[in-house]
Amino acid sequence: MNGHFKQKPLLFNPEGNDFGNHLTPVKFFDSPLWKEPTGLFTIFHPNHPYIYEFVKLQKQRLWKADEYPIDRTREQFDQLDDIDRKVFEYTLSFLAFLDSVQVSNLTDIETVYNMPEYKIWGATHKYFEVEHSIAYSNILYGLFNQNFEEVRRIFYLAKDHPELRRRNELIAQSYQKLFDLLWEGLKNVGPEEYARTLTHVFAGTYAMEAVTFYMGFKTIEFYQYKYGILPMTNKMISEIKADELFHVKVMASVIKTLKPYITRYIPEYEFDEIVVETVRSYAEADLQFYQAVLAQNNFGITQKQVENYIKFLTDRRLKLLGLKPIYGVDENPFEEIDRLYGYLESHVNEGKKEAFFETKSSAYLAAELDDRVLETFEF
Ligand SMILES: [Fe+2]
Ligand SMILES: [Fe+2]
Repeated sequence: MNGHFKQKPLLFNPEGNDFGNHLTPVKFFDSPLWKEPTGLFTIFHPNHPYIYEFVKLQKQRLWKADEYPIDRTREQFDQLDDIDRKVFEYTLSFLAFLDSVQVSNLTDIETVYNMPEYKIWGATHKYFEVEHSIAYSNILYGLFNQNFEEVRRIFYLAKDHPELRRRNELIAQSYQKLFDLLWEGLKNVGPEEYARTLTHVFAGTYAMEAVTFYMGFKTIEFYQYKYGILPMTNKMISEIKADELFHVKVMASVIKTLKPYITRYIPEYEFDEIVVETVRSYAEADLQFYQAVLAQNNFGITQKQVENYIKFLTDRRLKLLGLKPIYGVDENPFEEIDRLYGYLESHVNEGKKEAFFETKSSAYLAAELDDRVLETFEF
C-alpha cells in the first residue's frame, strides 16, 4: 500500500489478468502488472455483474434528443413576464452547464475506471450526458427561433451572469481536482491524496445527479404547472430527469462498491466525512444560488419552499448511501407538482406517465426496467 509498486498503466498489458478478485473497480497503480487488467475488453465474466446490468438497463432507456419534436412555442415564452422569462433563462443556462461539466468530469472518471464493466458503464453514462447537452441545445435553439445571438446570450449566462458564474465555477473546481491529478501524472500523487480525490469526485458526481439538477427541473415543471406552457421542453426535461434518477441509483451503488477499495488508503470515517461534506457543499451552493435568484425575482416559488426542497432531497440522497441525514427535513414542499410530474424517487413517472409521454414513450419500457432494478437492488 505504500506506492512502491506503483505501475504505469499499460493500454495493452500482456502480463495482466481480467478474471478474479485481484482487480479493483478503479485504478490504484500500486499493484503488480499481473494484478491489473490486460486492456482486452470483455464482459463475459464481470467481477461486478450488477454494473453491467446497469449498462443494459440504461441502454433500454435510449432516447435521441435530435429525434425529439422541437418546442417552437416561442409565443408562449413571450407571454411570460420579465421575471419568469429571466428565471427560465437562468434555469436553462444552468442545466446546460451542469450537463457540460458532467461530460468533462465523466471523461476523467472513465480514465480511472479499471474493470471492463466499469469502463463500459463510464462510456454509456457519458453518452447519455452528451445526449442531455444536445437536448438543451435543441431546446434553446427551438424556443428562440434559431436566433443565434439570443441562444448564445442565454447559453452564456452560465459565464456572464455573476451568480451563475460563481455557482458554476464552484462545481467545476470540485471536478478539476481529478483532472489536475491526471494532468500532472498520477505517478506524482500519494495514495491518500488520490483516494481522497476519488472520494470527492465520485461524491460530487453523485451530488449533481442526486441534488443539484432538481431545483432546475422543478422550475421548468413549475412553469408548466403554473401556465401550462412549453410542452415539448417539458417532455425532453422529463426524459433527462428520468436518466438522472437512474444515475442516482447507479452512482449510489458505485460509491458503496468503491468504499471498501478506497478505505484501504484512508480511514472509513474520513471517506464518509468527505462524502457527506461534498454532498452538503453542493446543497449549500444550491441554496445560496436560488436565494440570490429569488431575492431579485419572485417567480412564485418561495424561498422557504426551495430551502426545504433542497434539504429534503439532500437528506433522502444521503440515506440512499446509508448515511445519516443532515437537515432533518422529511416533508416535500412540492408534493403536488411531484404527484403531477412524478419522478422524485424513481425514473418511472408514477403519476401521469400515459398522458405525459403520449408522443414518444420510454415510460412503458422504463416501468418494466424500474421493476427489474428494484428487484435486483435494494434502494
Ligand atoms: Fe445529464
Ligand atoms: Fe446523469
